[in-house]
Amino acid sequence: MYVLGIETSCDETGVAIFHSEQGLISHCLHSQIAIHAEYGGVVPELASRDHIRKLIPLIKSTLKDSTLTSQDINGIAYTSGPGLIGALLVGAATARSLAWTWQVPAIAVHHMEGHLLAPMLEENPPPYPFVALLVSGGHTLLVEVSAIGCYKILGESLDDAAGEAFDKTAKMLSLGYPGGPYLSKLAEKGTPNRFKFPRPMTDRPGLDFSFSGLKTFTKNTLFSTPQSDQDKADIALAFQQAVADTLTIKCKRALEQTQLTRLVIAGGVSANTQIRASLKAMTDKKNAKLFFPRLEFCTDNGAMIAYAGCQRLLTGHQEPLVIEGRPRWPINELNAP
Ligand code: KG4
Ligand code: ZN
Repeated sequence: MYVLGIETSCDETGVAIFHSEQGLISHCLHSQIAIHAEYGGVVPELASRDHIRKLIPLIKSTLKDSTLTSQDINGIAYTSGPGLIGALLVGAATARSLAWTWQVPAIAVHHMEGHLLAPMLEENPPPYPFVALLVSGGHTLLVEVSAIGCYKILGESLDDAAGEAFDKTAKMLSLGYPGGPYLSKLAEKGTPNRFKFPRPMTDRPGLDFSFSGLKTFTKNTLFSTPQSDQDKADIALAFQQAVADTLTIKCKRALEQTQLTRLVIAGGVSANTQIRASLKAMTDKKNAKLFFPRLEFCTDNGAMIAYAGCQRLLTGHQEPLVIEGRPRWPINELNAP
């Protein structure tokens, strides 16, 4: 079964074709970074308009790369939420209209389920069950995954998502957008242990997160320090180290609580080298195994949506013919296919 996947939930237009037996066939991505950079963050209306401009040409080039034609496609998967409503509706309207024209089923995919399943696109995919840490611009979730669609939320952020904290801290340091990659680049030049930032909510039991206090701590440190380039790099490193330690402490706790020995990390922030290294050291020590997607599939992409949609379409899943976006959509509302 060939499934065309469409991702338009935020600021990347992603398209891919996944085959149920052969795996990923082709994928294309258009990033809107250049459009939003001058505003320092995503402008929702500009995002929707750009998806409209880029989606159809991207579908055409993904088909061309695959050497398939529209007649080979057996189903269309699209991100229906969570995300920006205008951006979601572009993907939903395009996917449903194409599916109607091509006489194939379309399926609404949960964006975070896409992220969670992204490591399944790799050579050694994680067997179920596992614990998943999903860290993106909008979400920080610890999930116990017993099978596709069987998700128990173990913990989540009570305020800012990890990626949001990276982006806001980067802004304070006058870095570019999106902040995560810029901040981590600057942190490479930082002096280890010059500042010690708090590890929020690690001194009490539970698996929830809170990053807004850490952001304020960073702000206060920044305004009580001279702010040379080196000072900024030292602060960036202290912030990143605090996030990495906090995520690692909570993941260790989640593995112990569930008695599971496999940890998956996914979502944009999982591209962070220091966070990956810290989680790898923890899982190695515990004889547990860490899984993550290749770098380009950590951030938003069409491949993860095509994969997730394909798994559900294979079971014969059918949906009403409605064009709908769900800006908010808790992942534990999903069911097994
Ligand atoms: O998953 P994603 O592409 O989009 C959402 O679903 O939100 O995640 C984007 C987030 C942004 O906040 C971005 O700054 C962050 O992932 N990010 C990083 C890195 N690369 C992307 N954060 C820290 N370090 C990175 N290397
Ligand atoms: Zn995402």
